[in-house]
Amino acid sequence: MASKLAPWVLRTGSRTLRSASRQQRRSFQTATVRRSETFVVHRDTPDNNPSIPFKFNAQNEKLIQEVLSRYPSQYKKAAVMPLLDLGQRQHGFTSISVMNEVARILEMPPMRVYEVATFYTMYNRNPVGRFHVQCCTTTPCQLRGSDSIMKAIEEQLGIHHGETTPDNMFTFTEVECLGACANAPMVQINDDYYEDLTAETTKSLLQALKEAAEKTGAGGMAPGLAGSAGKDDVSGESSGRPVKQGGEGYSAQGASLPAPGPLSKRISCEPAHGLTSLTGEPWTAEQVFRKDGAL
Ligand code: FES
Repeated sequence: MASKLAPWVLRTGSRTLRSASRQQRRSFQTATVRRSETFVVHRDTPDNNPSIPFKFNAQNEKLIQEVLSRYPSQYKKAAVMPLLDLGQRQHGFTSISVMNEVARILEMPPMRVYEVATFYTMYNRNPVGRFHVQCCTTTPCQLRGSDSIMKAIEEQLGIHHGETTPDNMFTFTEVECLGACANAPMVQINDDYYEDLTAETTKSLLQALKEAAEKTGAGGMAPGLAGSAGKDDVSGESSGRPVKQGGEGYSAQGASLPAPGPLSKRISCEPAHGLTSLTGEPWTAEQVFRKDGAL
């Protein structure tokens, strides 16, 4: 019996030893390593650390009360996004102190506010220049030439995306879809959209903004940092400029600028070369409804 079992014992034993000594290997799928910490990590800097005090001014305090009145008091944290936006407009960027103040007002754990501010790219967590140029490079814009717009911006400003000009006049950022795909390619500059761009119109737009800012003394740094919001504003944020446009310009404080919107012949997002559908006369009520009264 023992002699019959011997081969089985030897085979099983050696198999167990082999598998124990073999290194366990599993293949993992990993995402590309994120090289930038910009979007997720806060590092204290002289401009941006929790010891820098921040309080909303009286005007924004009033707005905050107005915003909070829209929500039941137990859900006031729902106001986190508008309050962060107000903080950014007042301070110039969404600093850690702005986030902490919003957390205090809304009685939220600061981490919850940080999570919101780091998720949405509209919150600038570092200082930006007087004009924040955000160029969309998502598919519809890319198919209609956003590469040439990116290049034109780089050539005109002498910086790459993610950088600010030395005079703090322009910050250039590459962004995902800004929801104006019908007028691609486009950029957002501060609160304004400029659409149907070409490399030439992009360059002349940037040049016009620079000249206007120099003429009016609205130099570098975002409105909050410059302490000049609404005063030396040439970006159209408070200049009471006309709404339309289609490539037309407007004047603000003696400086000429292209009006926001399509920098082409289009008024809005109508077909660029005339109607391609629904080209007949609209039906009248008599044509739509049956004459015998049946539906
Ligand atoms: S893809 Fe550029 S605005 Fe939508």
